[in-house]
Amino acid sequence: MRSFIPLLLAPLVLAHPKIPTPGPDGKYTLSAPGIEAKFIAYSAAITNLVVSDRNGVKRDIILGYDNASFYPVDPNHPDYGAVPGRYANRIKDHTYVVDGDRFFTEANDGNGTLHSGLNGWSRRTWNVSEVTSKSITFTIRDEGNSSQGLPGLVLGKVTHTIEANSWSTKLYAVSKTHDTPILLTTHPYWNLDAFQNPATDLVLNHTLSLPFGKRLVGIDGNTQSTGALPAIPAGDINDFWSKPKQLGANQGNANWVGNCGTNSGCSGYNNQWVVDRDPLDVTASKPVASLSSDFSGIKWDLYSDQAGVVVYSCYWMGGANELKASQKGPATNGFVKSNGCVAVEPQDLIDGINHPEWGRNQIYTPKGKPFEASIQYKFSTF
Ligand SMILES: *[C@@H]1O[C@H](CO)[C@@H](O)[C@H](O)[C@H]1NC(C)=O
Ligand SMILES: *[C@@H]1O[C@H](CO)[C@@H](O)[C@H](O)[C@H]1NC(C)=O
Ligand SMILES: *[C@@H]1O[C@H](CO)[C@@H](O)[C@H](O)[C@H]1NC(C)=O
Ligand SMILES: *[C@@H]1O[C@H](CO)[C@@H](O)[C@H](O)[C@H]1NC(C)=O
Ligand SMILES: *[C@@H]1O[C@H](CO)[C@@H](O)[C@H](O)[C@H]1NC(C)=O
Repeated sequence: MRSFIPLLLAPLVLAHPKIPTPGPDGKYTLSAPGIEAKFIAYSAAITNLVVSDRNGVKRDIILGYDNASFYPVDPNHPDYGAVPGRYANRIKDHTYVVDGDRFFTEANDGNGTLHSGLNGWSRRTWNVSEVTSKSITFTIRDEGNSSQGLPGLVLGKVTHTIEANSWSTKLYAVSKTHDTPILLTTHPYWNLDAFQNPATDLVLNHTLSLPFGKRLVGIDGNTQSTGALPAIPAGDINDFWSKPKQLGANQGNANWVGNCGTNSGCSGYNNQWVVDRDPLDVTASKPVASLSSDFSGIKWDLYSDQAGVVVYSCYWMGGANELKASQKGPATNGFVKSNGCVAVEPQDLIDGINHPEWGRNQIYTPKGKPFEASIQYKFSTF
């Protein structure tokens, strides 16, 4: 009888995946066919994402800094590529009630709270708990009240995975001791021309599609949720569902100025669209958003199980954030301008803790289910 042992052992001996370690730039690099991405432990962030354009030219289409050590000291702190938490986005009037107790969070956005205040998860250095040839896992131990007004210990875990033409993220968090709000997302900023378009360094000519986005999360003058979920008529400034549209297509519209907050004059988009998914699509198999640029011919499709998508067209980029060296293209002055990027954040409905009428269940309990969310970008050219 022949021995099977050498046959069985051979593939195991040959399988020697190279485990990434951080490079001289302080970043972990993962790559797969058609894609290379870099990550840092500060805010569990993605810092670089390189894909080929339609002519085979490699483009870094995500915003970030060359210098990993600059992220924690950056005075502008745009949450580049970060995982904000434990409760992402806004809390109106920095307060909410759980189990009859009123809590006060840190007012860092006018009278509201944004991304859990100035010690949120996107301002901490996470632990690197596992690295393989295609994925990196960051963990965080978030003690009760370490972000003001968010009670109880929460353990969080984020796994970024790079596969052929794809970046995917699994978000997970569990509340250990108290009932507490949890809402996580990823916060990448995109410029699909990598700032190399000689005609423009803005994203106003990028085309966005939000096929399930037939309702908005209503906002007041300070961009805080009102509780209303107004329908978006076809042809409206916020209509990206009836057909794909350029981000700047409605720039001349009377509602362009103030569309993302009348009190501040925020122009363009910093809004959340409800994902009114086909109820039969239980596996979330259709993209909830697509973004493309005619210049580079790069397109992504975003898949997520989250109930909403935030799109922010970078009105507040004031010109102080320096571009990465590879992005200092011919139309740039070396810095990101207003409307120079678009942030996209699949996430549950903003300030759902103050809107029980939405039935979103954003309070997590030690005995209940953990928080889980799935986000995937698939890249292609056209
Ligand atoms: C990187 O950033 C750190 C922190 O701001 C700074 O001290 C250092 O000089 C920077 N290095 C480079 C090469 O820009
Ligand atoms: C700001 O928030 C506090 C505390 O939640 C609230 O009492 C107050 O009315 C708010 N102020 C304004 C101007 O809305
Ligand atoms: C990282 O792990 C250490 C050791 O378990 C722990 O003390 C620390 O709080 C962790 N840091 C974060 C950000 O979770
Ligand atoms: C939470 O922190 C705030 C100040 O950051 C403090 O006023 C409050 O008493 C703390 N709450 C608890 C339960 O420790
Ligand atoms: C952007 O698109 C508009 C409308 O399609 C077009 O008129 C304009 O030339 C484009 N601008 C750039 C810089 O490509």
